[in-house]
Amino acid sequence: MSNPHGVAGPARTPVAVLSGTGYGGMELLRLLHAHLSFELVEVTARTGLGQRVCDLFPQLPGVTLPLTERVECAELVFVALPDDAAVAVVPELLVAGRRVVDLSAGFRLREPALYPEWYGYEHPAPALLEMAVYGLPELHRAALKDATLVACPGCYPTAALLALAPALAKGLIEPDIVVDAKSGLSGAGRGLSLGTHYAEANEDVAAYGLPGHRHWPEMLQELADLLPQPSAASREGDEESRIRLTFTPHLVPMTRGILATCYADLRAGIKADVVRAIYTAYYASEPFVHVIGQPPHTKHASGTNHAYVYPTVDPRTDRLVVLAVIDNLGKGAAGQAIQCANVMTGLPETLGLDAAGLYP
Ligand SMILES: NC(=O)c1ccc[n+]([C@@H]2O[C@H](COP(=O)([O-])OP(=O)(O)OC[C@H]3O[C@@H](n4cnc5c(N)ncnc54)[C@H](OP(=O)(O)O)[C@@H]3O)[C@@H](O)[C@H]2O)c1
Repeated sequence: MSNPHGVAGPARTPVAVLSGTGYGGMELLRLLHAHLSFELVEVTARTGLGQRVCDLFPQLPGVTLPLTERVECAELVFVALPDDAAVAVVPELLVAGRRVVDLSAGFRLREPALYPEWYGYEHPAPALLEMAVYGLPELHRAALKDATLVACPGCYPTAALLALAPALAKGLIEPDIVVDAKSGLSGAGRGLSLGTHYAEANEDVAAYGLPGHRHWPEMLQELADLLPQPSAASREGDEESRIRLTFTPHLVPMTRGILATCYADLRAGIKADVVRAIYTAYYASEPFVHVIGQPPHTKHASGTNHAYVYPTVDPRTDRLVVLAVIDNLGKGAAGQAIQCANVMTGLPETLGLDAAGLYP
């Protein structure tokens, strides 16, 4: 079998994208077309059925597959649907024996009761929440290897978790955390809305989703897992109540990118050089997370699966200030999904994802 570059090689895993007409789906198509070990065999859509992807989207000239209604033969399916559509379709994909990497929020929360509260519906397949693996390889690599259902993190949680994981896991901070984050407009998807309308969003910056954005319970769930085990004297099994989390998202007039600025008080006696050493060691063997010595720009990560993390200490307040940037469609969505699929199928984790940033 030949790869997309016409070079003979071993058999590739047949994969599908469901659906290919949104921003996350298109980014998957861009990356999968160049992947040496996944063979893109199906792309579904509601609109444009029967038309070739390259005819609808000239930026994907090599993707000559027609859009189809259903997945018929892929072994692994990337689901890039709104969460309510994803929870309806994922169970049947699993019953058909396919492995699923879901980009939506439909399987990220372990607690079914959170879905009515935060997403407005009763979860139709609560048993699957127990088996879904949260798709942040830096935190859940071992569990991903045998996963049949992966729930990729949201873009804000990806940035915030990468920013805060070393500090929480290594006990550097008090668990009273503020995440102030900014996103480009593609984070809202391709559908039209007043808030993403050019005349409304251009030259404007505003917070949204207050007082509680949907990514808050997801962040809390994963941050709580990072806490060192409570002492015998503390209450067990109630890690989430040990964290106070304030999260404020903002929309900024750029196409791609997330910048998360996170604040927490350092535990007594912890100094900037210790913080930096711990962050550097924590991510030393991670191919996609880079601890850098200057405040990162969203452009550093643009078009890539890389995350840039800058931990610093405000000596006047003894507060940790840690910044992280990602591309919301890369490490925040499609790139991360492919990173997870690489782990699931035993491939080198960086395969198809080693592109450098698009700059300026
Ligand atoms: N954008 C990001 O930065 C980002 C980051 C992380 C995770 N995610 C998640 O990834 C998923 C896709 O996001 P996106 O940004 O790609 O959204 P999007 O641009 O709005 O695309 C949504 C896709 O789903 C299809 N679709 C919508 N409703 C459907 C339904 N009821 N049944 C079948 N297909 C339906 C759309 O098809 P039509 O074109 O035919 O309407 C389109 O292909 C979402 O769950 C989102 O939360 C997105």
